[in-house]
Amino acid sequence: MMTISNGLLTLHTAHTTYQMTVDADGRLCHNWYGCKTEENLWDSRPTHAFDPGCWPDQLPLECAGPGLGDNRLPSVLPEYADGSRAADFRFVRAEVRPGKYALPGLPNFRLGSPPNPQGGFGGERSRSEMNETCRLRRGEGYGACGDDRQGAGVETLAVTLRDAAGLEAELLYSVYEDCDLITRAVFYTNRSEAPIKLHQAGSLCLDFDQQQLDLMTFDGVWAGEHLAQRRPIFSGVQSVGSTRGIPGHAHNPAAILCRPDTGETCGDCWGFALVYSGSFLIQAERGEAGIRLTMGVHPQHFCWTLEPGESFAAPEVAMAFSDQGLGELSRRFHSAIRRHLLPPRWSDPEAPRPVLLNSWEACYFDFNENKLLELAQAAKEAEIDLFVLDDGWFQNRNSTEAGLGDWTADPRKLPEGLPGLCKKLNALGLDFGLWVEPEAVSPNSDLHRAHPDWVLEIPGRETLEIRHQYNLDLSREDVREGIWQQLRALLDSCPIRYLKWDMNRSLANVYSAALPPERQGEVYHRYVLGLYDLQQRLTRTYPDLLLENCASGGGRYDCGMLYYSPQIWCSDNTDARSRLGIQHGTSYLYPACTMGAHFSTVPNHNTGRTASVEARMALALSGTFGFELDLTRYAQEERQELAVYVRWYRAHGALVRGGDLYRLIAPEEADSGGAWMFVSPDRTEAAVFAVGTALGDGLRPRLLLQGLEEHAVYADEDGAQYTGGQLLRQGLPLPGAWGEVPGCIWYLKQIERE
Ligand code: DGJ
Repeated sequence: MMTISNGLLTLHTAHTTYQMTVDADGRLCHNWYGCKTEENLWDSRPTHAFDPGCWPDQLPLECAGPGLGDNRLPSVLPEYADGSRAADFRFVRAEVRPGKYALPGLPNFRLGSPPNPQGGFGGERSRSEMNETCRLRRGEGYGACGDDRQGAGVETLAVTLRDAAGLEAELLYSVYEDCDLITRAVFYTNRSEAPIKLHQAGSLCLDFDQQQLDLMTFDGVWAGEHLAQRRPIFSGVQSVGSTRGIPGHAHNPAAILCRPDTGETCGDCWGFALVYSGSFLIQAERGEAGIRLTMGVHPQHFCWTLEPGESFAAPEVAMAFSDQGLGELSRRFHSAIRRHLLPPRWSDPEAPRPVLLNSWEACYFDFNENKLLELAQAAKEAEIDLFVLDDGWFQNRNSTEAGLGDWTADPRKLPEGLPGLCKKLNALGLDFGLWVEPEAVSPNSDLHRAHPDWVLEIPGRETLEIRHQYNLDLSREDVREGIWQQLRALLDSCPIRYLKWDMNRSLANVYSAALPPERQGEVYHRYVLGLYDLQQRLTRTYPDLLLENCASGGGRYDCGMLYYSPQIWCSDNTDARSRLGIQHGTSYLYPACTMGAHFSTVPNHNTGRTASVEARMALALSGTFGFELDLTRYAQEERQELAVYVRWYRAHGALVRGGDLYRLIAPEEADSGGAWMFVSPDRTEAAVFAVGTALGDGLRPRLLLQGLEEHAVYADEDGAQYTGGQLLRQGLPLPGAWGEVPGCIWYLKQIERE
């Protein structure tokens, strides 16, 4: 619900309110983002003590320009034709529109259920429209909420602001009342008579009037991604970001702000996720007037020229607030991502996801068809659904040193090609899935020999090889068309049900042969738009294909990629103890149904550590379940034991995919242990997982559960019965488990209700 009245702009979700005011000077000020309220909260703000006209530095601005009195982080950095770099945005108009705004070429939250294959977002429009992203003119199909954007109770507030020298900012806020989610995007439009250069074009600027907030970010390294980090925001600027062209392993494009006393089950917290898969910057600045948070495309390497009348669409930010702690904030994000972001084909938790076996840790580059078929036979015995052939299947690909770009099967490994292998797998009763890395090319490949100009390279400089590969210039339509034709040929060659789209290096040598020198600052962002275009073609043309994105594990795990692929390979590290931290950190904003998680062998290939079957299974079953190990080395009885877990996932996977997550014990608190649970929306079922020291030291401790109905009776799979009250207050009795990283999995079913 939204209202505009006397300069007060209010957005309500079911439990939260976001409020803005147009002040006496016409600046759009932020009043409130928090618990639901009907009050006008402008008058009670401490900043009101200042004379706003004299102190733009003190104003909570929704769109902040530089150089005219606000000296904090700006939202946008324009350079006008006269060389001035300044902006001060004033209100022009505001209107409420039914439905969701469109962001051509950029993924963004959808209207949601019921799935509407024709509807959705700007990226679902025709390709020619998408290619117009870069040069949109007002009235050419953006911003206006067309019929295909209406429905599902979503409304959009469009607020137009303008700087006197001619840059217009149209701030768009869409409200998903049911999920307590608000999305925001910005169109920057040149209303002057001369070109304007944007050196920064931010997506979010949000001022908090308090000084004491913590910042949570999700940081790490390759094989240790998305670890939750929390620290107080000190005076000055703290930031996380990426200039790699992909978000990368070091920082995820999402953040949470919370009060110092906020915990898992209590306190105020605000979550923000950028719907973007390229270089990004998140900054929190604490100064005299409080804390300002800004988010958007990273300004380094960015300069976008707007000719008169043209617009630039800044990527969307999704935000939510909870006054009931981080757990509730996560559940709000999870529900919004499931219902409004994932591809509709896969978003229903009841839609089964195939249990897969991935060949990577079983074979790496060393296999032939016989080896694959033996592995497939073993997979069948473990009741697995789908066999994924990872890297190494195409010509000259016996190491990372060659072959990328030549997507035809190596006849020495696969004498009857992919169709031959697929047919044999299908005859065994397994579906077939395939790995590709379409954004890359090996210098030693036919593709590179045929099209050396297709790579990103700076004239006159040696082109940097990383992992023995170059980046293809996805900003170019002809390059994308070439890649698309290769993908089509592959996908049409046999029934491929699943595609793992990998990307194993960050961008470097970023320069496009197709753009003039003065436009080179656009290439990083155009690359991301090109990536989205390809993924859009793929998901549109093959709607039943299950796409799993991957960037050396979780290097590109963001809401942008989740628009196209319902699951993302979370990390190359499958060690149970490492995964505890990785999946725990990932869970703050992203639901379990998006986390690629596989059961692998011990000692673990990445860490050399061991862990119990139950611990490894607990982690794998808490994501999109699969296997990644050489099952031919397991005896038939062992495969059949593993099949028990496959059956568990078939029976209870929908609970994991669609249930409410409660983090019970954080791994950092328990020193390499953790516990968590999923509860069905009607609270009649729960799956509980505990790993490592969370299981205690043999003293038979109890695990306090959450989210259950107090006055109901639940039974576990062994028939033991507990009331909800007992489980919530006295806890579930834990076994006194011993050994290297023990693990436990319970399924609880409500059998009686008062
Ligand atoms: C990196 C991925 O994360 C791995 O799972 C595997 O697919 C390799 N690339 C293959 O090169």
